[in-house]
Amino acid sequence: MAKRRIPLISGNWKMNHNHFEAIQCVQKLGYLLKEVLAEEELVDVTVHPPFTDLRSVQTTVESDGVKIGLGAQNCHPEPSGAFTGEVSAPMLAKLNVTYVIVGHSERRTLFGETDDMVNAKAKAVFANGMTPIICVGETLEEREAGATGERVSSQVKAALEGLDATQVGSLVIAYEPIWAIGTGKVATSEQAQEVCNTHVRAVVRDVFGTDAADAVRVQYGGSVKPDNIADIMACADIDGALVGGASLDPDDFAALIHGAVGWTG
Ligand code: PGA
Repeated sequence: MAKRRIPLISGNWKMNHNHFEAIQCVQKLGYLLKEVLAEEELVDVTVHPPFTDLRSVQTTVESDGVKIGLGAQNCHPEPSGAFTGEVSAPMLAKLNVTYVIVGHSERRTLFGETDDMVNAKAKAVFANGMTPIICVGETLEEREAGATGERVSSQVKAALEGLDATQVGSLVIAYEPIWAIGTGKVATSEQAQEVCNTHVRAVVRDVFGTDAADAVRVQYGGSVKPDNIADIMACADIDGALVGGASLDPDDFAALIHGAVGWTG
């Protein structure tokens, strides 16, 4: 039987919280999640602060012994060089970053990231011992035109090109319909499950085999809140959530994480 996938709830702070606010946020989060994080293999939690906060968040979680994984929101594919304003994967690894979001739809649409760049970034993340969270998702126009499946599966294939089955089994794919991000419009659990099953996990199975497909963690993202997380987590092919707005407030984010695992303690 396939091994149970540990749920992963990730907070993508985007361009919010300076380093003082970040410290307060993770301290409170660590306190609110103390019991749930003490349970072996119940849930993994990551936070993805802006680059300027990473060092502060790192020292806070390490000195307080908080079991929250440190994540980044992006990285450059090259290890170093003349790339003004960019941050490399080795720099992130040096800060004990463990997860890096790549190919978020805001990066793709606002900063011109292509499927090839997403693939190169995923490889750089692996080359530095970290785990990529690869984001895919369709626009509203694509959904209305019936092109969701084609769009998502081609993004998945392109992002994973050249990786091996073991790497693919260890990474995370976040399905985020663009029309649901920051809009308050959440996909129905049927819509989310259909895409995560047919156009994400089945694509991984076709290209990389059953072991990789059974192991890869698939998150849903797009207006996930404490009051809709339970429905999302009930979907067989969804193993967690990538959360924007609701991850900024530690009370909300903790409530969402507790809801994700049905914690009543
Ligand atoms: P949202 O953002 O939860 O605010 O919709 C999700 C994301 O962009 O990852």
